[in-house]
Amino acid sequence: MLATLFRTLRHPSREALRGAALAALIANMVIVFTGGIVRVTGSGLGCTDWPTCDGSNITPLAGGGGHEVWQGYVEFGNRLLSAPVLLTAVLVWWFVRRTGPHPRVVRRLALLLPLGVIGQIVLGGVTVLTGLSPYTVAGHFLASMVLIAAAAGVYELVRAPDGAPPASRGVQRAMTAVLVVALVVLVLGTVVTGTGPHGGDVNAPRFPLDLRVMAIAHADAVWLLLGLTGATVAVTWRSGPTRFQRTVRLLFAVQLAQGGLGYLQYWLGVPPTLVSFHIMGATIMWAVAVLAWARAREHRSLVEGADSDVAPDDVVGTGTAADVTSPKALQTAGGDAAASPRADRTDTGADDADDQAGAPAGRP
Ligand code: HEM
Repeated sequence: MLATLFRTLRHPSREALRGAALAALIANMVIVFTGGIVRVTGSGLGCTDWPTCDGSNITPLAGGGGHEVWQGYVEFGNRLLSAPVLLTAVLVWWFVRRTGPHPRVVRRLALLLPLGVIGQIVLGGVTVLTGLSPYTVAGHFLASMVLIAAAAGVYELVRAPDGAPPASRGVQRAMTAVLVVALVVLVLGTVVTGTGPHGGDVNAPRFPLDLRVMAIAHADAVWLLLGLTGATVAVTWRSGPTRFQRTVRLLFAVQLAQGGLGYLQYWLGVPPTLVSFHIMGATIMWAVAVLAWARAREHRSLVEGADSDVAPDDVVGTGTAADVTSPKALQTAGGDAAASPRADRTDTGADDADDQAGAPAGRP
């Protein structure tokens, strides 16, 4: 058992790398969800200090600052979760170093993961020390979205290429638009949260904005997102890569459910349980959007062949662009993908396009 673990750590397979990326993706989504629970239960200052809970103890021994002990544990539990999040991120980075050669984008995303988690741990501390400033709370959430995108990106990019042609250039552009609008929806969502009642503490500062106006802006961006995604689903209903078709349909379904949940929670006066599910839905929507965006593109993974033909120690480890351009790497990665000057890009561009035809306050 232990021997297998060490062997996997020394010589991970591409499947192990994908597993680690999936674990990192799930871990980041879970911590966003539990972070939401901290917020809606008013436990954001259950630990009033950082990195200790109360200035002298690591764990919450007594309720401080007018908080119950259980609120301290809710906040502390979320702090503890950063350990598995960091562990999975480090695993991804390590496995990427030990497998390969990988495109530069994969190596960068893999490095971003552990660095980003460390940044998030510090930002979590800043959030507490600023008394839950809505700016840092929003930044904390959005930084997690970057990490979710990085984990989803590694998961998708190290998949064995299936030779499927990419979606048409127009569909690829539409998916970029979907991703950008999805990001706008997330940003506006954090502004609604920063304006609304769930600041994580009764005394948390709030954005001096009109909640109804911000909710309307957030919901209107969602309608734009639904329109773009729905149109892409319609256009690719009968053509396009199957994996992409499935993913973009799932994306549309998630967006519909999440939009419905958004209206429901708004009309019901943002009850904590529904708000928690809305946060979870947002992370799922974002992860699926990133996967759909990637799956609209041709998949040229340089991992192909390298796992079996080359001892990982021989190929990777420098973390530099030389990994994929060294003669040995090119040889072992094989084929045009490795030899192409654009080999470290996921978007293969226009030449590939020919491959296929391919309320409490009224209406928000
Ligand atoms: C694809 C659809 C949607 C996505 C991805 C989404 C995403 C988000 C995000 C990321 C947040 C901030 C979470 C946080 O900072 O912890 C949020 C908050 C919120 N959203 Fe949405 N949303 C969607 C649809 C809607 C719709 C249609 C409404 C209807 C008005 C809505 C109402 C709200 C409200 C009221 C909040 C603040 C909840 C609170 O008090 O914390 N959302 N949303």
